[in-house]
Amino acid sequence: PRLAVFASGTGSNYDAIFHAIERNEVAAELTLVVSDKPTAKVIDKARNNGTPTFTFEPKVYPSKAAFETEVMEHLHAANIDWIILAGYMRLIGPTLLHAYEGRILNIHPSLLPAFPGLDAIGQAFQAGVKVTGVTIHYVDEGMDTGEIIAQEAVNVQPGINKENLQKQIQTVEHRLYPAVIERVIHNEYSRGGNTTT
Ligand code: GRF
Repeated sequence: PRLAVFASGTGSNYDAIFHAIERNEVAAELTLVVSDKPTAKVIDKARNNGTPTFTFEPKVYPSKAAFETEVMEHLHAANIDWIILAGYMRLIGPTLLHAYEGRILNIHPSLLPAFPGLDAIGQAFQAGVKVTGVTIHYVDEGMDTGEIIAQEAVNVQPGINKENLQKQIQTVEHRLYPAVIERVIHNEYSRGGNTTT
């Protein structure tokens, strides 16, 4: 399967996925990085790794449908099978959702449904929770609301500061996301949530 990673920021998750593929831990090709921030660090990382990139500036398009249509042309040209969101700071619109129905994943640094949206680690820190973590989920039209695929808990050690909590969560992300991608793209997860009986 061919993956496109969508990212707006640092790209540490992109890098983790790239290297997991290099080590043959994920049987896939990472053939495109898409970014709505042409100056994002993820673009430097992609260039260093030799991953092709497509960047765009949303504000020059009349609508989300307009830029997503252009993104989709690049996805089709690269024969992309799966969209992997890794710090892409926008909601996916109907254009991409319909084209890639059930084939868009996201990672979020909390145990959803707790602390969706921006600065989830800060939100958890402020709330004083003793356990937070990482969630990987299918993407729907909402903000961090799609069906959950996998979660891993992280204990908030007494007295830890936000920066160290963030490092701990990122370490989990960089291990969990490649492992879950490997299983999802090779059909080892069944959809439809938990069984209630
Ligand atoms: C990660 O914490 C991810 O969970 C969230 O955005 C962050 C992206 O970090 N969705 P990076 O750009 O991969 O370093």
